Amino acid sequence: MAMKEVLEDLRKIVGDGRVSTSMLERYCYSQDASCVRGMPDFVVRPENAEQISEILRLCNKKGIPATPRGAGSGLAGGAVPVKGGIVLDMSGMNHIIEIDIGNLQVIVEPGVVQERLNQALKPLGFFFPPDPGSSAFCTLGGMISCNSSGMRSVKYGTTRAYVLDLEVVLADGSVIHTGSKVLKSSAGYDITRLFTGAEGTLGIITAAGLKVVPLPQARRLVAASFEDAEAAGRAVVDVFSRGITPSACEIMDKTTLEVLRRCNPAVALPESGDLVLFEVDGTNLSVDEAAREVGEACAPVASSVRIAQSQEEMDSIWAGRRLVGAAVSRLDPTKTRVYAGEDVGVPIREIPSLINKVQKISEDLGIAAMKYGHIGDGNLHVALFIDLMNREEWERLDLAADRIHRAALELGGTVSSEHGIGLARAGYMPAQAGAALEVMRSIKSSLDPKGILNPGKLGL
Ligand code: LAC
Ligand code: ZN
Repeated sequence: MAMKEVLEDLRKIVGDGRVSTSMLERYCYSQDASCVRGMPDFVVRPENAEQISEILRLCNKKGIPATPRGAGSGLAGGAVPVKGGIVLDMSGMNHIIEIDIGNLQVIVEPGVVQERLNQALKPLGFFFPPDPGSSAFCTLGGMISCNSSGMRSVKYGTTRAYVLDLEVVLADGSVIHTGSKVLKSSAGYDITRLFTGAEGTLGIITAAGLKVVPLPQARRLVAASFEDAEAAGRAVVDVFSRGITPSACEIMDKTTLEVLRRCNPAVALPESGDLVLFEVDGTNLSVDEAAREVGEACAPVASSVRIAQSQEEMDSIWAGRRLVGAAVSRLDPTKTRVYAGEDVGVPIREIPSLINKVQKISEDLGIAAMKYGHIGDGNLHVALFIDLMNREEWERLDLAADRIHRAALELGGTVSSEHGIGLARAGYMPAQAGAALEVMRSIKSSLDPKGILNPGKLGL
């Protein structure tokens, strides 16, 4: 690659100030929140689809990799340019183009941060439900690209359920729309879903039409503790069997609660056991009834059940849950959490088996593990801790993550429920997708024959 020539071409497309080859900037774009690393040759901050179209035409002609990046909060290396080339920093394309409540949708650029969209929608009585732990900083483009979700998907579904239309720049520079403003359509292949979750390997998303829904009138929270994960799992299945769909259903194990208490002793959480938080939403009348029923379903197997008595108590409990990511640092001052094996998912009935298997893996390998996550979706986040300076601990960590991934697959599950495959989990794609991986490969080579879009990802 004639670097100087490419640099000049890029400057012509986006202007001098929007392209950088400085070591310092390239370093900043060489990682996300995972362990994956890869230096870009160029950092480019495009402003619109036209510029991206020109950039991709250039990349396609010269065989230069192009990797889109939102906030860099990904946990699998999806936004890390492992084959070098160009990183497209999409965070500057952050306009809410249209809020169209009459049509129950919004049109956004990919760099809009999730929380900012919801702040804009709140006064109108609407919201965009997918709510990852990173909602204060993750971008909607990243959420669409990873089909991310979080606490509300148990009732409201994942990001995928909200994407009505995508404007996408393809590898050859052409620009397409995958849908329109209609809320439903039966017109041909569902390529909106194809680009959702594709982690930037099939095209660059430059705008999205997203469905929004009314904010519920009321919410109630039931906190139930259990002696062990089996009992917790049984209660969750019983709640679902009664026809109740909680708007959130989260588990935190004993270690997670202990760490939270160390981080903030004021957090209003029970003293012992594994905790499950059930939130229900709806009308003022319906939530009282649903909370009571959740309590009844839990009572036979729970050691304690508490319905939060005020908005303050509810807020404090949720603040505790949101603190988990940061609180993990309190487990042991000599150890650091490494994101590996952190996003497995299984059919909900298998959650207790998965928790027990993870516990055994942690004990067998002598690697501390905290377990929390979206039990209502069968999605368990495992936090593994090691001394980063100890090579032998790294080896045991890799082994633990591998065993956790394989345990999830054996239980009929997935190696990633919401964080994505990127490079960190690419090695599991043959086991995960089976013969469907060949179908994915043929889609990839048909849309991106030169393999310029986020190469090295998804095990393609
Ligand atoms: C959470 C992130 C890790 O649920 O997905 O906190
Ligand atoms: Zn999560």
